[in-house]
Amino acid sequence: MRRSLAVFLAVTGLIVIFLIHSVYTLLTLLVEDGSADAIHSAEIPAPNSPLIDNMPQYIPKIIHQTYINESVPEIWREAQRTCIDIHEDYEYKMWTDAKSRELIATEYPWFLNTFDNYSQPIQRADAIRYFVLAHFGGVYIDLDDGCNRRLDPLLSYPAWVRRTAPTGISNDAMGSIPQHPFFLTVMQSLPEYDKNWRLPYITVMYSTGPLFLSVIWKKYMSSGANIGDGAGGGRVRILMMDEYNRYPWSFFSHHKGSSWHGKDARLIFWMGSHWMMLTVMGFMLAGVVGFGLWWVWGRMLLLGQRRAKRRDGGSSSVWEKAMGWGWRGGKAGYELTERHPV
Ligand SMILES: *[C@@H]1O[C@H](CO)[C@@H](O)[C@H](O)[C@H]1NC(C)=O
Repeated sequence: MRRSLAVFLAVTGLIVIFLIHSVYTLLTLLVEDGSADAIHSAEIPAPNSPLIDNMPQYIPKIIHQTYINESVPEIWREAQRTCIDIHEDYEYKMWTDAKSRELIATEYPWFLNTFDNYSQPIQRADAIRYFVLAHFGGVYIDLDDGCNRRLDPLLSYPAWVRRTAPTGISNDAMGSIPQHPFFLTVMQSLPEYDKNWRLPYITVMYSTGPLFLSVIWKKYMSSGANIGDGAGGGRVRILMMDEYNRYPWSFFSHHKGSSWHGKDARLIFWMGSHWMMLTVMGFMLAGVVGFGLWWVWGRMLLLGQRRAKRRDGGSSSVWEKAMGWGWRGGKAGYELTERHPV
């Protein structure tokens, strides 16, 4: 019995190690708060402060947005206007479906196949924002985010993203210099993460969306590339939640209308806000399943033993033969034997 217990524990252990290994980055993401790279309120001068003119400018003055075509729906037009109106000296690029595909086809043909084959349009909208940031640099802003104040202070970092709840970073507003190593990495990782996870929300989140971006960000940080604040620096700074939506001087304001969240999104949001409880329940469930497997394993051994006993008239250790292995030879050692017909 002791040997079979050892085998059982070894197999279970290997499965657990494999599972933990495959979700390791996701687990570490749960405890990553981004504080080491936070852009603090103290670093950001008040709107119209003369200090802003003294800050270096690395990110080019370009605002990128995406929509299907040029006719942006009424609900987002006001948000769009707030960003355009206070940045009259910025270039404004609206990436329609047609323009997005053209950029990929001419500049990044290696990605065209993946791009065309995404099952959800939002995946293309996610992907194109990483490409335009890596290509032209600038600031990407979701159409449902309005601008409260000029973005100039945020141009003084090589790259920045927004922290999000419950964990990781968001892709709804991001800034970058052209060819920033983080966005190059993000771009290059897209084909590898193009997997179908059955639930559309999970598929979008993990193939192109915020969860994908967060995982790449976590890996980027552990690769040691997250350094350098100057002109060609590799560091990615984090705009913390307080800085972007709590104070009156925050940069962005959220307007209505996430355009694509489905039913499964509500479930995921609920899971996101209860992740601690769900993690504990997951471990409990794993414990119950493990115990159940152990019980079934024990019953199988017992059954085999009984059947073998009935047949062989009860010689010792036959239950081991019935299960396909047993001790052979003397005290010196044991070896795995072939399965005996029962
Ligand atoms: C833009 O796309 C929307 C949504 O698919 C559609 O209703 C509208 O007719 C399109 N506008 C133009 C000018 O093609």
